Amino acid sequence: MARRPLVMGNWKLNGSKAFTKELVEGLKKELAGVEGCGVAIAPPVMYLAEAEAALNCGCSCGGKLIELGAQNVDVNVQGAFTGDISPEMLKDFGVKYVIIGHSERRTYHRECDGFIAKKFAALKTAGLVPVLCIGESEEENEAGKTEEVCARQIDAVLNSLGAEAFNGAVIAYEPVWAIGTGKSATPAQAQAVHAFIRGHIAKKDKAVAEQVIIQYGGSVNDANAAELFTQPDIDGALVGGASLKAAAFATIVKAAAKAKN
Ligand code: PGA
Repeated sequence: MARRPLVMGNWKLNGSKAFTKELVEGLKKELAGVEGCGVAIAPPVMYLAEAEAALNCGCSCGGKLIELGAQNVDVNVQGAFTGDISPEMLKDFGVKYVIIGHSERRTYHRECDGFIAKKFAALKTAGLVPVLCIGESEEENEAGKTEEVCARQIDAVLNSLGAEAFNGAVIAYEPVWAIGTGKSATPAQAQAVHAFIRGHIAKKDKAVAEQVIIQYGGSVNDANAAELFTQPDIDGALVGGASLKAAAFATIVKAAAKAKN
């Protein structure tokens, strides 16, 4: 089964109202007419309204191609949870994809596998698409624990929600040592882990494993993306730094569209 690739920009803690408008305008120009690849941007939640407005201009530019994402979500639906943002609030701004389990949240906010699985469940209930980030640290990599760590992070969802939860979901394999370091995994290294992840889900449900999008993330840029996308189990990318420049991000999207069609 052919999977439609997905390239998503994770803006992290970057931007402003003006920056959001400018980058979205730039992306619409660069991506007009591009087909065969899903595209999403995840600006800071503060700027979802600006991004939504800039994307929905009603003309036939590349805006229609670009979906909105968010970088985080909370597990509660409403009530006395100061500072939290619910899945329904994100939906209210036209969000489709929500990143959960990013290593920066696992590290700086001590989010554990069980809590991330709860976020996964909350997103499924709301009809949003979880983009579940998994990946090993440098230390774990050097100790040969990559597969063990990825399996554990996937199992938190598999064991609590079942394999069906991955129907229509997205996984982003992001080795922590590759994030923001300029040191991407090689295409062969990433492919091996992607095949492992797919195989791990296939042990529970082959059909679910076949359709699940597995993005690679970690220092993806306009120069290394095309080669990564030649790998059969790499279904697109989650892009940090390079998603802040319209031309570089568009080059990555076009590379995915070309490699997968
Ligand atoms: P990077 O970040 O592309 O800047 O390495 C990727 C990510 O953290 O999602």
